[in-house]
Amino acid sequence: MSDSAPPPTDPQSLLQMHFAMMPSRVLAVGVQLDLFSRLADGLDRVPLLAAALDASERGLRMLLDALTALGLLTKTEGRYGLTALARAHLVRSSPDYVGAMLETDDIWNVWSRLAEAVRSGRPVDTVERRERAETFFPMLIRSLHVANRAPAERLAAALCTDGAPTARVVLDVACGSGIWGIALALTDPTARVTAHDFPAVLAETRGYVARSGLTDRFDYLAGDLNEVDFGTDRFDVAILGNIVHSEGELSSRALFARLYRALRPGGRVAIVDLVPKEDRTGPPVALLFALNMLLNTERGDTFTLPEYTAWLREAGFARVETVEIGLHIGANAAAILGVKSLGA
Ligand SMILES: C[S@@+](CC[C@H](N)C(=O)[O-])C[C@H]1O[C@@H](n2cnc3c(N)ncnc32)[C@H](O)[C@@H]1O
Repeated sequence: MSDSAPPPTDPQSLLQMHFAMMPSRVLAVGVQLDLFSRLADGLDRVPLLAAALDASERGLRMLLDALTALGLLTKTEGRYGLTALARAHLVRSSPDYVGAMLETDDIWNVWSRLAEAVRSGRPVDTVERRERAETFFPMLIRSLHVANRAPAERLAAALCTDGAPTARVVLDVACGSGIWGIALALTDPTARVTAHDFPAVLAETRGYVARSGLTDRFDYLAGDLNEVDFGTDRFDVAILGNIVHSEGELSSRALFARLYRALRPGGRVAIVDLVPKEDRTGPPVALLFALNMLLNTERGDTFTLPEYTAWLREAGFARVETVEIGLHIGANAAAILGVKSLGA
């Protein structure tokens, strides 16, 4: 080998990348069979589980062993059990269940058509349209409610420790379960929240709000975010949680301008999303999510901090800041704040 020869490459990482679909499938099938709930019921051996789930012993043994190897189950002398992670998040009766998003193969099926979407530049589903959103999101927000709770608490703490007046008036745009507004209302006991989303999703939001003991502190605004009237000089905080990526650039820029009007002087818009580095070389989840938007929406994408900064300034926001909110959809994240000047 000459000195200038490139170092040898190892194709193992490509095999790993290819087979990375298998854990995803194993997890989904475990949820779809409701295997974790049966284990929580005390069924801990292959024959018992096979009978309860109407499954083959051969298939179930392999599934249980794979789930064990993936760290979701324990196995001792042929008896299987739940790890703390699986018990908290994969047993259907758990208040912290996140398996709802895995109960159907909607996302899996859409991703199997990626080549078609890349060729055409067109989505194979449109989850931002009312009819589809109202069937798709009630399921997804059950998982997001739990997964977004910790980052929502961090954002709420950051928004409430700056000496701003209390009795904040908050708008949670495309609120889903309402987790961002709920966290803020729990952090500032004088805050009042307007939760916005499509009507059938808001019917779900009301349940989450009631279970958080906040019924008296929430109002509701139903409709497409491109059409509803957010008013003028009404809110201290407007939250955009995981919505810019499905709306895309034009709708989001128009939304920022409408939210600027809807905020009082000194008010802030808080954007939580997947934000790639400026040159769009990472983190992987932010770029993979852009493809998720290609597949699932007409104009969705993920956007960089310089893009957000330019669009917020164009809408009138005097300052753009970021606050760390910890892990959000698998990557360390910062919320982006647009601040309306006090003299505006
Ligand atoms: C990914 S979920 C995010 C929910 C919540 N903000 C969160 O971060 O957990 C997107 C939400 O936006 C709503 N949504 C999507 N497009 C919308 C639109 N054009 N108008 C109103 N709501 C919309 C969906 O119904 C869904 O509840």
